[in-house]
Amino acid sequence: RAPLSLPALRALKAEGTPVVMVTAYDYPSAVAAEHAGADIVLVGDSGAMTVLGYDSTVPATVDEMLMLTRATRRGLRTPVLVTDLPFGSYEVSDEQAVETAMRFVKEAGAHAVKLERGEPTSVARAAAIVAAGIPVMGHIGLTPQTATALGGYKAQGRVGADAAKIVEQAVALQDAGCFSVVLECIPSPVTEAIMTRMDRAVVIGIGAGPAADGQVLVFHDLLGIREGKGAKFVKRYADLQDAMDAGVAAYADEVRSRAYPAPEHGYAMPDDQVAAMKA
Ligand code: KIV
Ligand code: NA
Repeated sequence: RAPLSLPALRALKAEGTPVVMVTAYDYPSAVAAEHAGADIVLVGDSGAMTVLGYDSTVPATVDEMLMLTRATRRGLRTPVLVTDLPFGSYEVSDEQAVETAMRFVKEAGAHAVKLERGEPTSVARAAAIVAAGIPVMGHIGLTPQTATALGGYKAQGRVGADAAKIVEQAVALQDAGCFSVVLECIPSPVTEAIMTRMDRAVVIGIGAGPAADGQVLVFHDLLGIREGKGAKFVKRYADLQDAMDAGVAAYADEVRSRAYPAPEHGYAMPDDQVAAMKA
């Protein structure tokens, strides 16, 4: 499969072929996304939680996201690579937003950047980055960088006025030139209403029902690399935390019982050399 570009993503939308997006944060997760034929790989600031261990996405820094993006880049050949602009790296001014976005493209090989929220400031930042030549993905609904203001990690747009606002934000981001918009944690009917207005931008849902052009899930959520259950919208396709725990525990047991290393894990030496060494 040839490396994908934005026209290829628009063609998938036009054909009605679902767009597959998944997060990755390092080389092995990128290789898994590549092997699965993902269309878009997102180095999400969810990596602040899934791989860096923070309790929210808020503390993620540009330097941390650059390192995660570079590692992911090395594992990818085909998908469009998008990186999240971390909180605080784009809100101050259009100049700050363009400078940060440019670093992800030039220093880490991202094809595009994603930013959160759909009120006028974020729409202006998106337009400024697009004007600088960098494709932008929007992200509305539940926006984890500002979850405190939204009342926590919970569904958004469940009442008419809030839903209408989310529809307007989606349209505003499309009009600002975003090639794609992520809808997180909103009722399916709101996504359906948005889809009637989104003739250009590729709409990616996460907890937003089946109407979107494509879906995204967090790598660690879909593979069960976490303690606890996670959000209602997550479907778990594997239980890798359990597999990792069991594998490391078995190793620890075998070290303690001296079952590991066994003779086949060792290196031999010619007998005369052994004798000479002992002499
Ligand atoms: O950070 C992230 O993983 C995201 C996706 C859930 C869209 O923003
Ligand atoms: Na994110």
